[in-house]
Amino acid sequence: MDLKEIVVVGAGVMGRGIAQVAATSGFAVTMIDVDPPQLQKARAGIRDSAERLHAKGRLSDEQRAVIGKISAAEDLSAAAGADIIIEAASENPQLKEKIFAELDEVARPGVILATNTSSISITLIAAATHRPKEVVGMHFFNPVPLMKLVEIVRGLATSDQTTATAVALAQALGKTPVEANDSPGFISNRILCPMLNEAVYALMEGVGTPEAIDAVMKLGMNHPMGPLELCDLVGIDVLLHVMEVLHRDLGEDKYRPCPLLRKMVAAGRLGRKTGRGFHEYA
Ligand code: 3HC
Repeated sequence: MDLKEIVVVGAGVMGRGIAQVAATSGFAVTMIDVDPPQLQKARAGIRDSAERLHAKGRLSDEQRAVIGKISAAEDLSAAAGADIIIEAASENPQLKEKIFAELDEVARPGVILATNTSSISITLIAAATHRPKEVVGMHFFNPVPLMKLVEIVRGLATSDQTTATAVALAQALGKTPVEANDSPGFISNRILCPMLNEAVYALMEGVGTPEAIDAVMKLGMNHPMGPLELCDLVGIDVLLHVMEVLHRDLGEDKYRPCPLLRKMVAAGRLGRKTGRGFHEYA
């Protein structure tokens, strides 16, 4: 693996986490986002996270200092010099296809185009390019600086070499790669999201308060967060989208998104990122 420059497309919660970890792992990093305020927010978020990790002795002075060297750009043409590109834009298949078609034009031949999608088919995204062998899923977990896993997802055409490079990169970022095949929700969200969806059904049907539902799973099952707290961390819109994909593509009623998820999204209560989900945040 001879990768030096990583370009991250999308400066939302996941994109900024990936950019942070890449920078503190010694890579040159550029974040691209069409929305300048989002880039500003990302910089502030990365600084805050790095300060917290530094205060705990988990980042050295040098690692904290490289945070200031992350470049930012608003146009995909800034990906021309990348050795690998990791896309972490919104979970919208049309948007991802458009970004990948454009990245395919901009990136040098042979450069891997990875996607952090949580549920969209890698094979579908790869089909928007002329390099499906070099398209792979690199699915990170929130909060990226703390979570150890990267799910490496192979599309139908992803080559062994691309997969091996993605695995090596995840390790170079201090993460543990686990391989999965391209199937709705991969391994992680196929299992996690129905559990979260069920917690929302339990709330909607009055089985317990949000506090009770979260307490049961934390104290009884040793989960670090309750399922409704986790919905708020992941984003209720993201969860709804994953459930829609599982329901549509696997065709089983057990994946039916809870109607309360739709209501929450319609009301703009998306979780931590909007200050309110199943819980409220200052
Ligand atoms: N950067 C740096 N530090 C951070 C941070 C970040 N982004 N987020 C939290 N921390 C720090 C906090 O400051 C805190 O520091 P302190 O100990 O000095 O106070 C420390 O981490 C612990 O945080 P908390 O006390 O708030 O809470 P926890 O002890 O519960 O730990 C957690 C936080 C690691 C997030 C833990 O609750 C956890 O593991 N939760 C589960 C997360 C999870 O399941 N993520 C996966 C979601 S699914 C996904 O992302 C996939 C997608 O496709 C849906």
